[in-house]
Amino acid sequence: MLLKSLVATLPFFLAVYANPLRRFVCNNGKRTANAQCCVWFDVLDDLQANLFDNECGEEVHESLRLTFHDAIGFSKELNRKGQFGGNGADGSIMHFIDIEGAFPANNGVDDIVELQRPLAIKHGVSFGDFIQFAGAVGVSNCPGSPRLEFLAGRPNVTQPSPPDLVPEPSDPIDQILKRFADAGFTPNELVALLASHSIAAQDHVNPNIAGSPFDSTPGLFDSQFFIETLLVGDTIPGGGKLQVGEVRSPLEGELRLQSDARIARHPGTACEWQSFVDNHDRMANAFRAAMSKMAILGQNRNKLVDCSDVIPVPAANTKQPTLPAGKTMADIEGSCKATPFPTLTADSGPETSVLPVPK
Ligand code: HEM
Ligand SMILES: *[C@@H]1O[C@H](CO)[C@@H](O)[C@H](O)[C@H]1NC(C)=O
Repeated sequence: MLLKSLVATLPFFLAVYANPLRRFVCNNGKRTANAQCCVWFDVLDDLQANLFDNECGEEVHESLRLTFHDAIGFSKELNRKGQFGGNGADGSIMHFIDIEGAFPANNGVDDIVELQRPLAIKHGVSFGDFIQFAGAVGVSNCPGSPRLEFLAGRPNVTQPSPPDLVPEPSDPIDQILKRFADAGFTPNELVALLASHSIAAQDHVNPNIAGSPFDSTPGLFDSQFFIETLLVGDTIPGGGKLQVGEVRSPLEGELRLQSDARIARHPGTACEWQSFVDNHDRMANAFRAAMSKMAILGQNRNKLVDCSDVIPVPAANTKQPTLPAGKTMADIEGSCKATPFPTLTADSGPETSVLPVPK
């Protein structure tokens, strides 16, 4: 009898205790785990309506890049030497855009900073929180992306990041690996973070072909970036000449960064790179974990409140990984010694040109 009533009440206990999520009801009727998270629903609506148009477009790409350029301002080595090593994901890039925006690697980030700042001020949230929130919301607009964690509570800062902490595409790979290690990332985590370049384009490396993406599907969080960076580079997109930090790409209209090309082929990173090619879940999970770490660089996780339930659930990506039309497996420069490159089928249709060929 006792057992029977226990079993009968089990679903209730499970609902209340095993799943204590979304207990608070905000003024706007939205439910969340923590009352402090209510403000973020308003920020979410504002971002989607007035910055992102609910799409995975340019502003989303720029917002994701900004999460990195704010957070990477963090150096254990400088701290060890008794110098100021930066506060990481602290919003300093927004507070001190006059200073940090002048660092060469931050070329172009002022555009998104100026678009985001008024929204952060309007909603009374710290710049550091706003930048990471905008990145997480933005990524959720890209089909195939993981639902990123979002923790709130970073204080507003009073000091800019030290210079020379943001990597450049022309930096030697050993220097890039060292820089990431100094910020607390393993080589595998660097590769995972570079899944961001699956939803990315450039304006400033080669301004003659501004807007050219790093893979053929910049609106999808997919593995095409990891595939296409391993194709033979035989094209100078847009004609003209290669710029500093740019190397030959496989497709007209697609730009390949020197750093991406080299990390894809470096013995310390090539196998992790290749492992994402036909394993979407592995790529998405690794990106999510590394982004969780990056978003709170220099911050104390225990002082932050988990507002992840405000982040929308991303749509799935149904497109299978393929070789771009016109390419074959012979065009792949497999770089992982341990395992062969997985066999992919080619896209049908005419040879891919991700952008109209410039006239
Ligand atoms: C080795 C490290 C990295 C290098 C050298 C690098 C370099 C670059 C460069 C040169 C651009 C083009 C910017 C422009 O000309 O407009 C770019 C774009 C971008 N990067 Fe990275 N990046 C690195 C890592 C990361 C990481 C860790 C993230 C984020 C988690 C990230 C996210 C992005 C995004 C989303 C864009 C596209 C921006 C847009 O479309 O406007 N990058 N990156
Ligand atoms: C952060 O600093 C900016 C610029 O000084 C200010 O406008 C904003 O109100 C501050 N936000 C918080 C949450 O303190």
